[in-house]
Amino acid sequence: MSEQVHHEEAKIRGAFSSRKVFIFAAIGSAVGLGNIWRFPYVAYENGGGAFIIPYLVALLCAGIPFLFLDYSLGHRNRGSAPLSFARLRRGAEGLGWWQVGICFMIAVYYAAVIAWAVRYTFFSIDKAWGSDPEGYFFGDFLQAGDPGVQADLVPGVLIPLVIVWVAVIAIMVAGVQKGIGATSVVFIPILFLAFGVLVVQALLLDGAAQGLDALFTPNWDALTEPGVWGAAFGQIFFSLSIGFGIMITYSSYVHRDTDMTGSGAVVGFANSSFELLAGIGVFAALGFMAQANGVAVSEVASDGIGLAFIAFPTIISEAPAGALIGVLFFASLVIAGLTSLVSVIEVVISAVRDKFEMSRVGAALAVSVPCMIISLIFFSTTSGIFVLDIVDHFINLFGILLVAVVSMLVISWGFRSLPMLADHLNHNGSVHIGTWWRVLISVVAPLALSYILIDQFITDVDTPYEGYPQWMLLTFGWGAAVAVIVFGFLATSVPWRSETSLEAPPSAADTNASRGGS
Ligand code: PHE
Repeated sequence: MSEQVHHEEAKIRGAFSSRKVFIFAAIGSAVGLGNIWRFPYVAYENGGGAFIIPYLVALLCAGIPFLFLDYSLGHRNRGSAPLSFARLRRGAEGLGWWQVGICFMIAVYYAAVIAWAVRYTFFSIDKAWGSDPEGYFFGDFLQAGDPGVQADLVPGVLIPLVIVWVAVIAIMVAGVQKGIGATSVVFIPILFLAFGVLVVQALLLDGAAQGLDALFTPNWDALTEPGVWGAAFGQIFFSLSIGFGIMITYSSYVHRDTDMTGSGAVVGFANSSFELLAGIGVFAALGFMAQANGVAVSEVASDGIGLAFIAFPTIISEAPAGALIGVLFFASLVIAGLTSLVSVIEVVISAVRDKFEMSRVGAALAVSVPCMIISLIFFSTTSGIFVLDIVDHFINLFGILLVAVVSMLVISWGFRSLPMLADHLNHNGSVHIGTWWRVLISVVAPLALSYILIDQFITDVDTPYEGYPQWMLLTFGWGAAVAVIVFGFLATSVPWRSETSLEAPPSAADTNASRGGS
């Protein structure tokens, strides 16, 4: 009977064919640019080796518990983020649409970074940046002018961006299993392999040990700084792809009888392992760069765009086997980014499909094509990079983290749903969810995240982020964060398609209870 229900449901909404495919897709989402270009520097800046303590605390006290919460919502309620929230309580639907709005925005700019990495994979072969990677990136490649909106097209970005979108649209049209599932099963092992080879290459470079020293030497004093703890919680939330609808969506495609908690433990472990691997690879390479230029590692350490598009090209130019390192590094960025990009777009597609009577292909196109067009308008022009930087900063904080805190508080204190959700997870789960989970979700994690948010809010109000003009920050930063909330509320007024039931489907745990089981 449960088999039949699963097949029916799979036909209507799509589904992963097995637990393995789900785990690969979830790892594909979690392992993204954040692991490669964000974690190493965050760890280095916040105590080095000592960062392991706040990191593990954040992982175990907020990351994994919240991952379980996302899983329980999607897996129990069998819906996209808005449908899963609506099935929890009718009035909570807007939280799901808020997440959908965030995902839409992220998709628009994430694609641009992947497009740059596609270009740089090829640039690595002949070291196209010559002796001035920085000037090349901003001047020759992006053709960035002053921060401001100019709409001059940059063909060197436009073409790879179109290619990225065509690939993404093909995956989205192919569907949950044949598109997302198959892509992840093929590319995630390739990613781990390619990155593994890259790390070995990096460790062979002169000066690698110096880089690792810089990364791992513990600064125990850092543990007394609240900002260090905040950085750990922020990194974990972003890195595990939790709180923004992705894991709700993916777990709604998993067979009802699946062990979700065991799967979550696997995903969390794989994600953190990749993060550690990236830290080693990146800092070994930075150690080489420091030694080659006769400076301290602190002079060359950086993250994000600066690390990938300025420091790495320098390393690639100077290192023996530089071209190999370059191709492996940028190809890894492309794969890690692509499997994360499809996960954010699926949040939107799934919601559209649940809400309206739309076929897979229809919804995939209705979502991806506008997303592509906006992405092309903003990011193939000369001021793309500034908009990207601003949206990224504000959406990560006042989008992802804010919606995470609000939903935790609403679910635990407003609806008091945690015991029911815990029962659901425990029914087939191999990690037992006890009182500890409720305490972490209702008290510990919200306190930690609220602290980060308030602290960052004050900073961003006091000092304009990166010195950008106020009007840009208001439009693309604060404006974007508010727009997704407004969108969330407006979307709830659109009626659901006729056959979508807003009743929560019976959980395996309920059926068993009614039979008089545990
Ligand atoms: N976990 C992803 C990362 O580390 C976060 C992310 C997912 C970002 C999906 C964008 C889209 O990069």
